[in-house]
Amino acid sequence: MCGIVGIVGVEPVSERLVEALKRLEYRGYDSAGVATIHDGRLDRRRAEGKLVNLDIRLRGEPLPGTIGIAHTRWATHGAPTENNAHPHFTDGVAVVHNGIIENFSEIKDELIADGATFATQTDTEVVAQLLAKLIREGMDEREAMRAMLKRVTGAYALAVMFRERPDMIMAARSGPPLAVGHGRGEMFLGSDAIALSPFTNEITYLVDGDWAILTPAGVEILGHDGHPVKRQRQVSHAAAYMVDKGNHRHFMEKEIYEQPEVISHALGHYVDFLDGRVSLPDSAIDFSAIPSLAISACGTAYLAGLIGKYWFERYARLPVEIDVASEFRYREIPLSPKAAALFISQSGETADTLASLRYCKDLGLKIGAVVNVRESSIAREADAVFPILAGPEIGVASTKAFTCQLGVLAALAVGAGRARGTISAEEEKALVRHLIEMPRIMSQVLNAIQPVMETLSRDLSKCRDVLYLGRGTSFPLAMEGALKLKEISYIHAEGYAAGELKHGPIALIDENMPVIVIAPHDRFFEKTISNMQEVAARGGRIIFITDEAGAAASKLETMATIVLPNVDELIAPMIYSIPIQLLAYHTAVFMGTDVDQPRNLAKSVTVE
Ligand code: F6R
Repeated sequence: MCGIVGIVGVEPVSERLVEALKRLEYRGYDSAGVATIHDGRLDRRRAEGKLVNLDIRLRGEPLPGTIGIAHTRWATHGAPTENNAHPHFTDGVAVVHNGIIENFSEIKDELIADGATFATQTDTEVVAQLLAKLIREGMDEREAMRAMLKRVTGAYALAVMFRERPDMIMAARSGPPLAVGHGRGEMFLGSDAIALSPFTNEITYLVDGDWAILTPAGVEILGHDGHPVKRQRQVSHAAAYMVDKGNHRHFMEKEIYEQPEVISHALGHYVDFLDGRVSLPDSAIDFSAIPSLAISACGTAYLAGLIGKYWFERYARLPVEIDVASEFRYREIPLSPKAAALFISQSGETADTLASLRYCKDLGLKIGAVVNVRESSIAREADAVFPILAGPEIGVASTKAFTCQLGVLAALAVGAGRARGTISAEEEKALVRHLIEMPRIMSQVLNAIQPVMETLSRDLSKCRDVLYLGRGTSFPLAMEGALKLKEISYIHAEGYAAGELKHGPIALIDENMPVIVIAPHDRFFEKTISNMQEVAARGGRIIFITDEAGAAASKLETMATIVLPNVDELIAPMIYSIPIQLLAYHTAVFMGTDVDQPRNLAKSVTVE
């Protein structure tokens, strides 16, 4: 996820920059670096691995200067070496970056054709190179920054220093968060307010598309079009090591909105963006050699596993045995020791999941852990660890961990398919392309559907029961929608396979119970439409979540139709997670429940 900080002021900065980075270390710790300007010289210290290595380096070779930027890295493009560590320098321009410059390859080719030579494998270096080129061509720093921002696409939080301007840091935000801190005769910049909490509690959050110029006297914030914009200055209550909500009312809301950013970082760990291939970070499980796969987990993590089952069976032709961990561990399932088992857990500490892991380990299976907390028990006891890199999830109802689990499982299934020869290199490339474009589509959907979900939630908050239906991967998603709604709004909800409707639940249909149908225009669409007809014929009210093709094809009258972009079947579960999360969230807000800490629940379930 990477963390960035900057200070422009009057006192020496390098020690304080490292202090701020320590609070951002949860965002990544592959490498770290600091750059300052002193006596007309732009200089830097960088080190591989955790921050402590940078700290040691700085003690041996201090870095003077009253202006500086710093970075703690979670590698996406380029190995986590010192050479790829930020800040990146080109001709007096220094850059730190969090995010992914999607069109870096195209810009890099142009710059190389123009005579540039690149020192790193990172996407970030194109920002420094492009700015340096624009300045060489005669632009001033402000014009160059504006032109550069027009040229790059993707997700980024950037901080930039220019050797010739030792009184100024420029920043820009498109996606990942960025907070400006106000001091006395000094200004600060950070990925979150916690990083800045030792220096100031007066914070202005940049909004997507903003860029800013920080000098010791203050900050000028500019909008996308280069015109000044006003952003609210607020008092932050962030304390050291306490993650804060930014501009959001609840952690759950913040975590829903963080998904495009965190999932793109997670994918960066599993997907080679340049080659269009899956490259798994841990080879302890040989997917080409196993006869079957067992998956076990609890709650939302189990539902992610259930979607994973569809993918492993479809793309890798790998039979999957899956169950909730509390059943799995006691079923005495006869599993082959040649098989592998995956355990999915945000916390990595869930007692039932851990017990299932130990059951499989005793049988001699290779163990894989799909976890958020890499130091957790489940990760420690596994042979292969597949981190989901969602960052700290504070809201008890899992949102970003769910979609990151899905992202990782999708990459594993495609990687397994390639290893087993069940998909071709061309098919792999096409699937990887869909994965790469997913964060951008997620972001689009988040912005587009928010108002309608809020309105719809008002109606839903008056209901006592809600039914969710879906087929294929939309079936586990229907169960996840129901789980999310019930756990935070306390409305009774059930998720069913749409085809099961007529085998029982249809008896419940009346005008008081909304039926939420999740139906992208996929292989199952026509069948799901028939099930919708059955609901409509009995006076049921339908909330239809579909895509443009599905909306055009359906003639049914609905209570509401949520139209998402047409997307490939592989990424549909991640994209369709957004409306079901927003619906649950806004319904709970209307009902006035404790959204982040719903009753009777806990984040890490370490008892049976
Ligand atoms: C629901 C939710 C829970 C967890 C479950 C497993 O929103 O968060 O259902 O998914 O308790 O927890 P982990 O993933 O930590 O094993």
